[in-house]
Amino acid sequence: MNVVLVGGTGYVGSAVQAALLSRGHQVKVIARHGRVLDGARLVPGDVRDMDLVTPFIDADAVINLVGIIKEVPAENITFDVMHVETVRRIITAMSATHVHRLIHMSALGTRPGAKARYHRTKWIAEDLITHTTGLHYTITRPSLLFGGGAPFFKMLQSQVKLPVTPIPGPGTSLFQPIFRGDVANFLALCVDTPETIGQTYEMGGPETLTLNALYDRVAKAIGKPHITPWHIPYGLMMRLAKVGQNLPGFPVSVDQLMMLAENNATEDRRWEKFSLSITSMQKDF
Ligand SMILES: NC(=O)c1ccc[n+]([C@@H]2O[C@H](COP(=O)([O-])OP(=O)(O)OC[C@H]3O[C@@H](n4cnc5c(N)ncnc54)[C@H](OP(=O)(O)O)[C@@H]3O)[C@@H](O)[C@H]2O)c1
Repeated sequence: MNVVLVGGTGYVGSAVQAALLSRGHQVKVIARHGRVLDGARLVPGDVRDMDLVTPFIDADAVINLVGIIKEVPAENITFDVMHVETVRRIITAMSATHVHRLIHMSALGTRPGAKARYHRTKWIAEDLITHTTGLHYTITRPSLLFGGGAPFFKMLQSQVKLPVTPIPGPGTSLFQPIFRGDVANFLALCVDTPETIGQTYEMGGPETLTLNALYDRVAKAIGKPHITPWHIPYGLMMRLAKVGQNLPGFPVSVDQLMMLAENNATEDRRWEKFSLSITSMQKDF
């Protein structure tokens, strides 16, 4: 099938390209820059203003991966623009080209009234999708992804190397890290699995771990048997992040902190039924 992968050069996208190609699909990747795998084709452009109709002509399915974790308002990179307006533009272009199949990457914790604007805008996008008549959608909401150099785990790695590891809050929130390759395979499988149409899948990996346990895992993986944790109250972290989040090297954004303060785990295991593998967290973060 002809698949257009919007936002397909990033951390998740590179794995989705591989999964789609291995299933024999023709892959067109939209992003502003970056490289694509042999066999895929890059359509360079900015989703905020590019013509999406032309790349969608003859597509059988669109996968949307565009998402941000931190806003840069001065560059018009906001949650509203990147999460909501991008989806609106994609749906409009799909309607113009009579493409019906949309697989959309959301995130676990997405719900109306969520604290983090990341989650709230992901919810508005989901709502747009699920209320569009004639759209054959599948929505995925994974927990934290690991594998192949996940940005979040790289951040943990740099923190555990410090003599004292700053941990936001008590570190008791729960997470279900899920392997990037497993998510990528599932997204690729959705393209030609009609049973997934009209479904929203929450996705978690095989283990449920506290934030403290994640720090410990990462520390052990780099050969540090123990860390000295420094639990910084969320209120203080939040105030620091409000000032520092736009400075280079500042480790977390305000929205990330809000999300780290919540459990990010699900009992929805329906995705496993389709999965080629369910990968445990190992040393390759
Ligand atoms: N990583 C996780 O743990 C995780 C967990 C749950 C959900 N998610 C969701 O998964 C999706 C993919 O995440 P990721 O980690 O792969 O993000 P990423 O590495 O930042 O990749 C984002 C992709 O979007 C493209 N993009 C960004 N702005 C664009 C623009 N204006 N026009 C065109 N393309 C643009 C980027 O390419 P250019 O910058 O070159 O344009 C890149 O291809 C996101 O929706 C995210 O919310 C991720």
